Amino acid sequence: MKIPLCKPSIDKKEVLLMSKTLKSNWLTHGPYNKKFEKEFCKMFNIRYSISMNSCTSALECAIKSLGQKGEIIIPSFTWVSTANAVLNCGSTPIFADVDLETRNINLKSFSKCITKKTIAVIVVHYAGLPCDMKEIVKLCKQKNIKIIEDSAETLGAKLKGKYTGSFGIGCFSFFPTKNITTTEGGMLTTNDKNVYEYVQKLIAHGIDKNKKKKFWHRVAVLPGHNFRMPNHLAALGHSQLKKLTKFNYKRNKIAKLYTLGISKISNRIFTPKIPKGYTHSFQMYTIRVDKKIRNKLVSYLNKSNIEASVHFDPPLHKMSYLKKFYKKRLPITEKLCNELITLPIYPEMGRNEVNYVLNKIKTFYKN
Ligand SMILES: Cc1ncc(COP(=O)(O)O)c(C=O)c1O
Repeated sequence: MKIPLCKPSIDKKEVLLMSKTLKSNWLTHGPYNKKFEKEFCKMFNIRYSISMNSCTSALECAIKSLGQKGEIIIPSFTWVSTANAVLNCGSTPIFADVDLETRNINLKSFSKCITKKTIAVIVVHYAGLPCDMKEIVKLCKQKNIKIIEDSAETLGAKLKGKYTGSFGIGCFSFFPTKNITTTEGGMLTTNDKNVYEYVQKLIAHGIDKNKKKKFWHRVAVLPGHNFRMPNHLAALGHSQLKKLTKFNYKRNKIAKLYTLGISKISNRIFTPKIPKGYTHSFQMYTIRVDKKIRNKLVSYLNKSNIEASVHFDPPLHKMSYLKKFYKKRLPITEKLCNELITLPIYPEMGRNEVNYVLNKIKTFYKN
């Protein structure tokens, strides 16, 4: 048996839909983008959504929409995009620590990072679990700090009835490992009309459609990018979105099987917890083990044809070009980077595959 870390679920109807869209003669940003965006707003109760070519682009647009440069607080425990977007927009990343249980930004550490130069925080909803947005929103209001949500790993999860991406400016990813896919792709969400109008121009060469007096007029009003999502990928996204609830249900079912199975193997393996009032979209299922055995267990699973991995190691503050931004100690981040393992999870994963992974972990712990 060979078990991949993740596997996108693209069905025959979606392949047909994409090929029909390709033959429609409308290959760039088109009618399916509008449909996808409208459905996204409806599903997550957000006023505006803009589809684009990646979450990384969405992060850059969100940061540029702040209209100023300064310090932006981010966790070091994240994918490099979070920091790269800050640097590429001319701001400075300030690293905060995370919680051991939730692996999301730690409020105390975050508040210690705030200075007069702080303009924003990018919270990262790790692996499918929303951050403690109630407290984060409260603190940010007090300190006049803008909120950007890196929700690349969390689509369709909520806390106290509110979805991620609806608290600040939301940035989502549709990379093949994520909860839904458009191959490459992303979405920016906002309830702020000004942000929406600015980002619409920013992703399409800075062209202001309202300045059009003749049909050939393309009037740029700012130095924009080409961050657009093509129509056929939006068609795929629109179809995938309809299946998200089912996908997330299946991911949660697999997570439950893992958690139950692991609890019977060892009490030294820590499984993810879902705090009261939260839902989880399990884009990843991560366990925490003793750092002395972590690498050996990953290798053992890999040798057993199980594509277990680690998210994330090394942390951002250990990377050569980011070291200079490492100011405050990040003990939990460093602990997690040495102790976490990501196990395979994807909607089509069956009970047999889950049991195969569990049996291999059991064998490892027995020997
Ligand atoms: C936390 C986080 N942010 C950003 C990204 C980047 O997403 P994309 O590949 O769509 O640019 C990822 C994807 O792996 C991620 O996990």
